[in-house]
Amino acid sequence: MAAVVLVGPMGAGKSTVGALLASRLGVALRDTDADIAAAAGKSVQDIFVDEGEEHFRTVEASAVAAALVEHEGVVSLGGGAVLAEQTRALLEGHTVVYLRVGVADAVKRVGLGSGRPLLLGNVRGRIKALLEERAPIYESVATLIVDTDDRAAADVADEIAAAL
Ligand code: S3P
Repeated sequence: MAAVVLVGPMGAGKSTVGALLASRLGVALRDTDADIAAAAGKSVQDIFVDEGEEHFRTVEASAVAAALVEHEGVVSLGGGAVLAEQTRALLEGHTVVYLRVGVADAVKRVGLGSGRPLLLGNVRGRIKALLEERAPIYESVATLIVDTDDRAAADVADEIAAAL
């Protein structure tokens, strides 16, 4: 069973903080987007384009379920994974850290040419809408909420490690 699960929107720093936290805890990081891309043999962006978001969400729910059971270290979930009811149910009983971020910092971290399919065309507007829509969902699954605005990833990882 996963030791810690990181949730939060694109640009929250899940991958960077996840890697630092895993090294502090002496465990490995597993990233469900990377699992999905490796299994499909193509990027998440290409899966969205070729097969569509609905297909991605189905595959994502299975990838998350497998990672939560199989991996004993830190698991980082794609920003939209918590949209699946099945995933929210599986998160119960886990230590779930919501990396909270505001629009400005998320845009800064994601960058304008982010390769994220859901942001194409209007990074700032899409991030703002996603943050508003999903914040209550992240809050509902979180056992710990950590603010990441204006903070170095190492500082965030330290706070999480100290709270475990
Ligand atoms: C998504 C976030 C992405 C990736 C996909 C969809 C989302 O992961 O799973 O592009 O719905 O927020 P990151 O949060 O790691 O960027």
